[in-house]
Amino acid sequence: MNRHEEIKNAYKSLGGEATFYDGMITCSTLTGKAVCKLVWNMDKRKNTRYLELALSGIPQGFGGRMLEVPVGTGVLTMPVYESLPDADVSCLDYSPDMMERAKRQAGKRGLKNVRFIQGDVGKLPFPDGSFDLVLSLNGFHAFQDKEAASNI
Ligand SMILES: C[S@@+](CC[C@H](N)C(=O)[O-])C[C@H]1O[C@@H](n2cnc3c(N)ncnc32)[C@H](O)[C@@H]1O
Repeated sequence: MNRHEEIKNAYKSLGGEATFYDGMITCSTLTGKAVCKLVWNMDKRKNTRYLELALSGIPQGFGGRMLEVPVGTGVLTMPVYESLPDADVSCLDYSPDMMERAKRQAGKRGLKNVRFIQGDVGKLPFPDGSFDLVLSLNGFHAFQDKEAASNI
């Protein structure tokens, strides 16, 4: 199995219902809190602070073109996009399973300004200058070709 297949398969098991993944990344379920503590030494307060800092680069009321990569299940960012109805948001991820959940979350929230693209961060299918802002959370460790990913 090559590295791309490994990544796809690793997230496949988490993307379907994704309650484990979402609980872990938001430090909110019992198992999620345990993983947060053991792996990242974070409690809910630290986790929330980290997220606030990471999202603080998005200007309030942002209405430009934005790329999020990797979007994963969208658990961290779909609520953000609900508050940015004028933004034009493209979400990309390698795993269709993870993104399926993000699409469902966007659908539930009635988001019309968010689209989803399956792809590789190292081979983005957009011309240079397509976006005003790029958001990337919790993904760099998973990117196979880090050099290509850092050229965004
Ligand atoms: C830990 S998750 C982070 C997802 C989301 N940003 C979050 O914070 O919940 C890592 C994600 O990176 C995606 N990924 C791994 N390699 C990728 C690549 N080469 N291109 C795009 N996405 C990739 C995985 O499919 C997975 O959804």
